[in-house]
Amino acid sequence: MSTENLQEVVKQKYGTAAKQVAAGGVASCGGGGELSCCDPITKDLYDGSQISTLPPEAVAASLGCGNPTALAKLQPGETVLDLGSGGGIDVLLSAKRVGPAGKAYGLDMTDEMLALARENQKKAGVENVEFLKGAIENIPLPENSVDVIISNCVINLSGDKDCVLREAFRVLKPGGRLAISDVVVRGEVPVAIRKSVELWVGCVAGALEEFEYRDKLFSAGFEDIDIEPTRVYRVEQARDFLSAAGLDVDKVAPLIDGKFMSAFVRATKPASRASVVGPSCRVAE
Ligand SMILES: C[S@@+](CC[C@H](N)C(=O)[O-])C[C@H]1O[C@@H](n2cnc3c(N)ncnc32)[C@H](O)[C@@H]1O
Repeated sequence: MSTENLQEVVKQKYGTAAKQVAAGGVASCGGGGELSCCDPITKDLYDGSQISTLPPEAVAASLGCGNPTALAKLQPGETVLDLGSGGGIDVLLSAKRVGPAGKAYGLDMTDEMLALARENQKKAGVENVEFLKGAIENIPLPENSVDVIISNCVINLSGDKDCVLREAFRVLKPGGRLAISDVVVRGEVPVAIRKSVELWVGCVAGALEEFEYRDKLFSAGFEDIDIEPTRVYRVEQARDFLSAAGLDVDKVAPLIDGKFMSAFVRATKPASRASVVGPSCRVAE
C-alpha cells in the first residue's frame, strides 16, 4: 500500500473512532473490534490523579499504548509536540506540566480527531495548547523549534517511518528529546503471523523490530537511543482474536509469545546539531 493510500485508511479508521467518542461512546481501535482487541494495550495507562483533571471525552478517546508524558520529564517553559495527538489526552497533560510559560502542540491529520481534541481543549480550559492539522511525515513547524517530541502509538501507523524520524529531528532544538510510546517487535516474526498480531494490536502499517527502530533513529541523526519495554504481550491475551483469524494458536504461540511489546523509545538530538534544512520529506496529504 502506498503511503498516501495508507494515510486514507488510517484517517477513516480514526475518524470513526473520534465520532464514537463525540456520540458519547469510547474509542475503539478497530483491529479486534467486537473481540475487545485493545484492552490489554490501551487500558490503565494513566493513573487516577492524571485523568481526574481531564474532560471525560479526552480520556474516552485515548488510543495509546503508553504514557509518554509520565516518562518524558517535561519541565516548565518547554515546548512539546505530540505526533498523532488523537483526542488530545497527552497534549492536555503536557500543557499542565510545561505550565503557562510553555506550549503543547498536537499534530494530527484526521479532521474528526482534531475537532474532538479542540473541543476537549475548550472543556479543559487550557490556553497553552494548539492543535495543528498535518501529517507526521511533514511536520508544519520550523527547524529547531521544539524541546520535546512525544507520541503515543502512532509511529507504527506510518508508511514512511524514516521520514517521520527525520522530521522529528529537524523540528527538535539541539539537545531536544524524543520520548515516545510505540508498539515494537522483538526479533523475527513470520510476515503472515505478524499481520494477524498487528491487527489484534490495532495497527494498520506495522510495528518496527527493535533493532530496526534503533537503526532508523541513528540514521536520522539521534543519539542516546534507548528502547525500554513497558508492556510485553502474551499469546493468551490474543488467543480468541487469532483463532477467529484462522490461526492455529498453539502452533504459532512460540513464534509470537512475548515478541510484541509496548515500549518507551527515547533519543536525543545532539546539542551541537542545529538543523539548517527545510522539511525533509514531502508526502501528499
Ligand atoms: C492510535 S491513535 C493515538 C492517538 C493518541 N496519541 C492517543 O494516545 O490517544 C493514532 C492517531 O494518530 C493519527 N495519525 C496516524 N497516522 C498519522 C500520520 N501519518 N500523520 C498524522 N496523524 C496520524 C490518527 O489520526 C490518530 O488520531
